[in-house]
Amino acid sequence: MTKEEAAKKAPRISLHGHWSSRMAFVLAVTGSAVGLGNVWKFPYITGENGGGAFVVVYLFCVFLIGMPVMMSEVLIGRRGRRNPVATMSLLGEEEGSSRRWGLLGSLGVIAGILILSYYSVIAGWTLAYTYKSAAGNFAGGSAADITAIFDTFTGNWLEVGVAHTVFMALNIVVVARGVERGLEQAVRFMVPALFVLMLILLGYSINSGHFAEGAAFLLTPNFAALTWDSVLVAMGQAFFTLSIGMGAVMAYGAYLPAETSITGASASVVIADTTISMLSGLVVFTLVFANGLNPGQGPGLVFVTLPLAFGQMAGGTFFATVFFVLLIFAAWTSAIGLMEPAVAWVVERFHKTRVQAATMVGSLIWALGFGTVFSFNVLADVRFLKGTIFENVDHLTSNIMLPLGGVFITVFAGWVMCRNSTADELGGAGPTYSLWRFLARYLAPIAIIFVFLKAVGLLPDLAGS
Ligand code: PFF
Repeated sequence: MTKEEAAKKAPRISLHGHWSSRMAFVLAVTGSAVGLGNVWKFPYITGENGGGAFVVVYLFCVFLIGMPVMMSEVLIGRRGRRNPVATMSLLGEEEGSSRRWGLLGSLGVIAGILILSYYSVIAGWTLAYTYKSAAGNFAGGSAADITAIFDTFTGNWLEVGVAHTVFMALNIVVVARGVERGLEQAVRFMVPALFVLMLILLGYSINSGHFAEGAAFLLTPNFAALTWDSVLVAMGQAFFTLSIGMGAVMAYGAYLPAETSITGASASVVIADTTISMLSGLVVFTLVFANGLNPGQGPGLVFVTLPLAFGQMAGGTFFATVFFVLLIFAAWTSAIGLMEPAVAWVVERFHKTRVQAATMVGSLIWALGFGTVFSFNVLADVRFLKGTIFENVDHLTSNIMLPLGGVFITVFAGWVMCRNSTADELGGAGPTYSLWRFLARYLAPIAIIFVFLKAVGLLPDLAGS
């Protein structure tokens, strides 16, 4: 069978039913994209990597690498209409390559499991912070008080472990209920509400008188201080925040109606996600400078700055509680996306029900999560390679597995799939299609590999660089 003949057989009917509309797909992928990565991770890694220059690199990565990777994932997903592993092996064969492309789906399944193992722990922090906010624990607190609350809480593995357990249980319930009933409902109000709350926080932080300093930290690039390691982290964050490189978006693409524009849907998601991250960065760094805090203090950054601001604000107990509830929802809709590839795979491969599959996958992730729970207390001194267990899992997944997944995804969509198949999915040949094809064939894979090699020191510096 030639590539063209094989390609004609697609598209096919999804085994899981369809999204009710384009909007439902955009909401679900946005729900997966907007999460702790925007509100918690973006500010803290930006702080650790020196601000402005890191942000510029991050934005380049989002638009020039992230966007084409996302489009590739969605188009592959829609053409295959199966879980990522089955889709990749099926299309690999149909496009005249090999079923072994299914291994790429497996890489994604593993990445999702590993990411969720720590994501769930941080989401557990959010659960605990909702409770602490409602109880008024932050009202009127000084920077020192609120830092102490964070240190005491994360130092207590039992409390953190219980919160992580509750979050995983919530997750299993939604994923077990299946695509249409479970996923669509959760995302409708969360992103707009989070956006509004961010604007309220922004208004407050502008009033603090330190907005210019916060904005300057976030937006003024100093490339001299940027290392290749930071560039790798910025690229990893682009993948992480957009939920790409591991087949989550591919799994959602499988449910996308044939007539929906993949470019338009991807652009909406990328813009919404980037807006929330930048807003969060502006708020957090303004508060950092208003309170004399350290921008590079690490994973506790938002859990100190935001409660501090809420604690000083009129109606702060209320706003803080609403904010953390929204963050739980944001984390929850992302966690669903992290579990979906593994669950869909177990359902199709082992003929389990969704309930069984969600319970099995969820329990495994729950157990692995204790590596991160302990990274902030009993095992805080166990350090190797990149630091604690948490730091290693994060580095391995965000900075290695997701970008590597991105290389394979773009190579598959750009080189293995025939032009007819991709043009068919992307609405026909035209300037947008040509741009996508250039980015997917050349720029994205080459840039990713280049940054990898630079970060591990395998490429020498050119004179003057
Ligand atoms: N994009 C999510 C965030 O920024 O919080 C994290 C994530 C969710 C990554 C789903 C990957 C994924 F499949």
